[in-house]
Amino acid sequence: MSAQYGRPERIASVKGRDGGASRVGDVLELRGWARSVRTQKGMAFIDLNDGSGVSGMQAVVSEGSSAWEVANSGACSTGAALRVRGKLVASPGGKQAAELAVDELEIIGGADPETYPLQKKRHTLEYLRSIAHLRPRTNTIGAVARVRNQLAYATHKFFQSNGFLYVHTPIITASDCEGAGEQFQVTTLLNGLEGAASPEKVTAAEAAVKAQGDAVKSLKEAAKAGGATKEQVDEAVAKLMGLKAELEALSSSSSLPKNKDGSIDYSKDFFGKRAYMTVSGQLNGEIMACAVNDIYTFGPTFRAENSNTSRHLAEFWMVEPELAFADLKDDMDCAEAYLKYCLNHVLEHCDEDLEFFEKNITKDNLRERLRSVASQEFARITYTEAVEHVKNAKKKFEYPCEWGSDLQSEHERYISEEVFKDRPVIVRDYPKDIKAFYMRLNDDKKTVAAMDVLVPRVGELMGGSQREERIEVLERRIEELGLDKEAYWWYLDLRRYGSQPHAGFGLGFERLVQYVTGVENIRDAIPFPRYPGSAEF
Ligand code: 4AD
Ligand code: MG
Repeated sequence: MSAQYGRPERIASVKGRDGGASRVGDVLELRGWARSVRTQKGMAFIDLNDGSGVSGMQAVVSEGSSAWEVANSGACSTGAALRVRGKLVASPGGKQAAELAVDELEIIGGADPETYPLQKKRHTLEYLRSIAHLRPRTNTIGAVARVRNQLAYATHKFFQSNGFLYVHTPIITASDCEGAGEQFQVTTLLNGLEGAASPEKVTAAEAAVKAQGDAVKSLKEAAKAGGATKEQVDEAVAKLMGLKAELEALSSSSSLPKNKDGSIDYSKDFFGKRAYMTVSGQLNGEIMACAVNDIYTFGPTFRAENSNTSRHLAEFWMVEPELAFADLKDDMDCAEAYLKYCLNHVLEHCDEDLEFFEKNITKDNLRERLRSVASQEFARITYTEAVEHVKNAKKKFEYPCEWGSDLQSEHERYISEEVFKDRPVIVRDYPKDIKAFYMRLNDDKKTVAAMDVLVPRVGELMGGSQREERIEVLERRIEELGLDKEAYWWYLDLRRYGSQPHAGFGLGFERLVQYVTGVENIRDAIPFPRYPGSAEF
């Protein structure tokens, strides 16, 4: 293999920042899919898109060229995979700087216009969700994929350049980090349970055992009277034992293992205890931060909350940094710097996609809004102040808001959109009763050192806290909440040996994509959304 590895150049790179003007005269070979094909006045215009950008490349075939017949064969239709070769020329139309004058056109894979679902007309996002295997070929979902990619890249760049170590935390866990009981259970106890043994099979096996038992009994009596040999009896007994073993196997495979009190015996399960899909990598992240200093995890998390909202998924990706030797202020500073870094990064690298969202999705000044957020300080208020803002609001809310109750999404949006005029707001010091067990108790004993970052349109984008590093306080909190202290022995050990104040947060990655692109529904911020009733594709 040559030392220089390289894939064929893509349309976005050819176009660069000047639409391809500086590349006029180059001979190019491009592969992609036809978004549309139209013929007029001896010319065929193919809108070729290879997924690298919204606008693609106009490929022009002139009558008389060898490509002309292919272009007009009927197989060169919307959705077809094509290879085109030709010279880049200045485009006479004002729509683009350059276009490809095609010499060669090859249809790599056709797309029957009678059945291909993505014709040129606009489709609703709802409909596109039902064809999630084809929707990445649309402008909107393609642009979301590119912005999402850049946000992931920015995430790694930000943390790596600040000395954070990227660690992988487990997907399967025995702990419930958030204590909200919204976990998906992982078990093999159900494997093969269905269909293994029907009640009829068990009844038949029982009958066979009984019949063989009777046979053994009469043989034994006959043997006593000299009418049967010892060998005959032994043979019948052996058969009975075999049938009994079969029956036993059948009945244990058709029911869950149970404890004496009737509960399920998870010691027989795959992991020897109850296990779940993780809701957060935090607890394992803390272990690592208590050893190698600042870390971050970025992985899938799962929540079985039955909420059919435009902000919740059953499977979503979370970015979770954990800062060692750090307090809540350090945590908030990190959250603010990270979000601003992401915004600047996409403004720099996704201009065409953001422009597309601006025109077609948000229908406002999206880029200007993001730029302004990236350049000003976030507002920082306490939970108590947030509640005051909501209570003093002139507008009516669906849910009431009292000190001690959780802020609803409508309250969060009101605070960042209206009170702080489209600015992110960090709310801190929440009542301890509505937050998780690991958050550090404040001196007032009523609140904890928690913080949520609220942004316009989305509401809560990040949630984090300083962690309780004092072992007695943490133990008391675990007891207070009725959690099983034994189960947290390793978490407590982190406070027993070399404890230090540390803090972290979790950012819902799809909510970040939603915020940056303006897509209304979180189901369009991830290629294959998982939500109640839907795990298709
Ligand atoms: O606020 P949460 O529940 O915090 C934690 O899980 C902490 N353990 C994080 C940490 O401190 N390391 O979740 C963090 C973020 C939320 O702010 C929200 O953006 C997102 O995860 N999130 C969801 N996103 C999509 N669908 C859901 N069902 C979500 N639940 C939370
Ligand atoms: Mg939260």
